Amino acid sequence: MLKKELVITIDGPSGAGKTTVSKTLAARIGYRYIDTGALYRGIAFETQQRGIAADDEAGIESACQAIDLRFRLEGGDLRLFSGDRDISDMIRTPEISMRASAVSALAPVRSFLTVLQRRLGEERAVVFEGRDMGTVVFPEADVKFFLDADSDIRAQRRYEELKAKGEAVDFEQVKRDLVTRDLNDSSRKIAPLKPADDAVHVDASRIGVEEVVETMAKVVASLRS
Ligand code: DC
Repeated sequence: MLKKELVITIDGPSGAGKTTVSKTLAARIGYRYIDTGALYRGIAFETQQRGIAADDEAGIESACQAIDLRFRLEGGDLRLFSGDRDISDMIRTPEISMRASAVSALAPVRSFLTVLQRRLGEERAVVFEGRDMGTVVFPEADVKFFLDADSDIRAQRRYEELKAKGEAVDFEQVKRDLVTRDLNDSSRKIAPLKPADDAVHVDASRIGVEEVVETMAKVVASLRS
């Protein structure tokens, strides 16, 4: 019998369009979507608020136990709450991006969030996007995608996003940050960014969101009854 309620993972580097694609694909097939990068950003933000250095592994480990992160869907948007506080916008700064990449290399942070993510996947029918969803968190996922795009195109996209939010940004700086973050994320010892052996690769360099989602939806449809 074919499974209807699948676990779908989308991994890939920064700025490849994973969030928009996951959200659009999930809406199209009636699934939930979970942006796991937001959780790493949440830990980065909350530990920064508590004045803990990004490399203080013991300090961050004990802080994790006191941080209560949860998602709430509001008007189709996935919002991240820390306790009762909506931190969705505060976690999107360039500073928190770099700090999230740094804290995501720490073993206690990864094991804490891996447990949380697996719990979020228990009900299935969900699209998870991140860096290690198909390799480590859900190695048994039904469909795994690896979404990539040229670094210039990814940097341009990130630059436009930040500019639209009114941030004073410089393209070269955005590109440098993105390349540094990709290097950190793909060279760390635990759960580095890489495609799962059985991932379907999708290159979004020359195609738009609609076409990416169309390609993915066809793969998913071939598995659903
Ligand atoms: O997807 P994002 O840019 O919001 O992710 C922020 C950082 O979090 C990213 O640089 C690496 C880390 N991350 C991770 O290590 N594993 C994930 N599954 C998702 C994000």
